Amino acid sequence: MKHLIDPTDLSERELEEIIDLALDIIADRNKYSEACKGKKLATLFYEPSTRTRLSFTAAMMELGGNVLGFSDAKNSSVSKGETCADTTKVINCFADIIAMRHFEEGAATVSAMNSRIPVINAGDGSHSHPTQTLTDLLTIKREIGRIDNLTIGFCGDLKFGRTVHSLIKALSRYKGIKVVLIAPEQLRLPDYMKEEVCDRNGVPYVEVDTMDEVMGELDVLYMTRVQKERFFDEDEYDRVKDFFVLDAEKLKNARPEMRILHPLPRVNEISTDVDADPRAAYFRQVENGKFVRMALILKLLEWANDPTKNTELAPADAVRGKYICRNKRCISNMEVGVESLFRPAHDHTGGYRCVYCESKPKD
Ligand code: CP
Repeated sequence: MKHLIDPTDLSERELEEIIDLALDIIADRNKYSEACKGKKLATLFYEPSTRTRLSFTAAMMELGGNVLGFSDAKNSSVSKGETCADTTKVINCFADIIAMRHFEEGAATVSAMNSRIPVINAGDGSHSHPTQTLTDLLTIKREIGRIDNLTIGFCGDLKFGRTVHSLIKALSRYKGIKVVLIAPEQLRLPDYMKEEVCDRNGVPYVEVDTMDEVMGELDVLYMTRVQKERFFDEDEYDRVKDFFVLDAEKLKNARPEMRILHPLPRVNEISTDVDADPRAAYFRQVENGKFVRMALILKLLEWANDPTKNTELAPADAVRGKYICRNKRCISNMEVGVESLFRPAHDHTGGYRCVYCESKPKD
């Protein structure tokens, strides 16, 4: 069964097929208006969402299919203590494909492990958000005309920003990518991303303190919100929340062909005086999200019938039941019945990383 839990679940060829199909849908939407007739998408959203949930809903409706699900887990049997695994088994009786957003990191992996239908990770805590990545790649392709040979600045919350993690992973497969990391000390990109993704794939990166010093070099500026909901300590959030604000003045040094992306929602990190600038692509990016999710639904439903298409949820050399994950938000620490699973780390430590959330084991 093919699922989409992490952007690296898609081969370069599969990624290209999805983007090409999204472009074809944009060119001729009528051609696809009954492509999912009789099919049902379940949207299981345990965490708030505007764009992702509604774009999945709009995508399935435009494909002629139907949508069921919940947008607030409090209104489902999750509030009675039902696990993610059991909820998935139940939804398998009602739907053909699942899109799940969850605050527990690794929730989509657990769901996929318990599913006979494709599972799409619509965001798991601060870990991964692969359909935002598809949205971002389609936007870069449409706005700039290519996805390779780009210098991309990531600004804001690079620690908890799941969209940043997923996009850097996907970009590491393209040639000529340079990454500029613009974040305060407290919100820097996690080490596993630097070592296992950037270093391992030969993606050069630099860390800088201000956007001004790099603005003129960027092809894409990817802004992010500092995510209050991910902080355990509100004072810590208050210290960093206003660190970076992009306004029209700062854009004076940017190239005319640079594009500004943001997964949205924004709080104050992009001033509204930037919105009318032709380089501001973030609302066009939202619409691309619907088209690329239409393409993803079609492809995953097609691949569900192909025995050669599989997602490796745990590698063959994974260690079972030996370690405990140090991440308090990992599903292995939050739900009963989730087996401890660690894979060898691809970094200098020679240790292990949690299969669900990529954190290290407890010491
Ligand atoms: N970009 C994104 O995931 O937005 P929502 O949280 O509104 O779905």
